[in-house]
Amino acid sequence: MSANIVQNPAKNTLAQYRCPLCQQALVLADKSYRCHNKHSFDQAKQGYVNLLPVQFKHSKEPGDNKAMVQARRAFLDKGYYQPLVDSMLALYQQYSDKSLAVFDAGCGEGFYTHQHKTENNTVYGVDIAKETIKIAAKRYQYCFFSVATLSDLPFSDQQFGWLYSVYAPILEAEFTRILADKGYLLTVTPADNHLFELKSLIYRQANKHDTSKSPIEQLTLVEEQRLNYTMDFTNSEDVLNLLAMTPFAFKASESLIDELKKLTSFTCQADFILRLYQK
Ligand SMILES: C[S@@+](CC[C@H](N)C(=O)[O-])C[C@H]1O[C@@H](n2cnc3c(N)ncnc32)[C@H](O)[C@@H]1O
Ligand SMILES: [Zn+2]
Repeated sequence: MSANIVQNPAKNTLAQYRCPLCQQALVLADKSYRCHNKHSFDQAKQGYVNLLPVQFKHSKEPGDNKAMVQARRAFLDKGYYQPLVDSMLALYQQYSDKSLAVFDAGCGEGFYTHQHKTENNTVYGVDIAKETIKIAAKRYQYCFFSVATLSDLPFSDQQFGWLYSVYAPILEAEFTRILADKGYLLTVTPADNHLFELKSLIYRQANKHDTSKSPIEQLTLVEEQRLNYTMDFTNSEDVLNLLAMTPFAFKASESLIDELKKLTSFTCQADFILRLYQK
């Protein structure tokens, strides 16, 4: 934990959790979140809370699996996507009302979540994958994590001044509901050439990403940025981890994996679109 981060966030930036069963406010007492209707959700020993009732789960282990999470963490820890974080933080610094809470929607293992934490704000992360949230909460104890679904978020209305989504599903109605008036939504999605060289190894004719769709209708687009840079790899492990993070990993043949294992250098583009919307 870096020195400028405090464990106890300022009270005014705390967001209000709500009960996923009856939508009443949840109050934390004795390591349990409880609502008026006596629904109760225990805080896990890692500090997160599971707000995904069994009946809302569509599969036993929804979300990314452990192998994907571990590959992503190993890759992100090497800093290949740090330029993206820097661009996101620059927008946060430029536009946000710093007295309001921050929300990372589909936060995975918390790589972007924790980098938004400052001395004065509170930062929340939600993911549907419990194992991922466990890993995030254990590592970043100064952020608030919960297991929940983005399609029915466990927060009261208008709780956040800054909400972002990196490569995760965008649920506009719920995002709009939990944003404060004039609050912002930042989406990060792949641009045309994202990982083009890696994809070219897998598909004989790699398709560029389709970036034409912009699904947001209720919020106003205030800024759009393209971030393109090259990543130079000098070991195969990082390339294999990058591959494992992608939705096309399962298309890679055994012989291609063997080839990748022998790589000593590889260059690949990162290409992102950042879109900032305001309520
Ligand atoms: C590609 S990962 C991105 C994770 C993280 N934002 C990052 O970039 O490192 C997408 C994440 O969205 C989560 N996810 C997918 N559908 C979800 C849903 N309906 N509710 C909550 N999380 C979901 C997955 O479990 C996964 O962690
Ligand atoms: Zn309840």
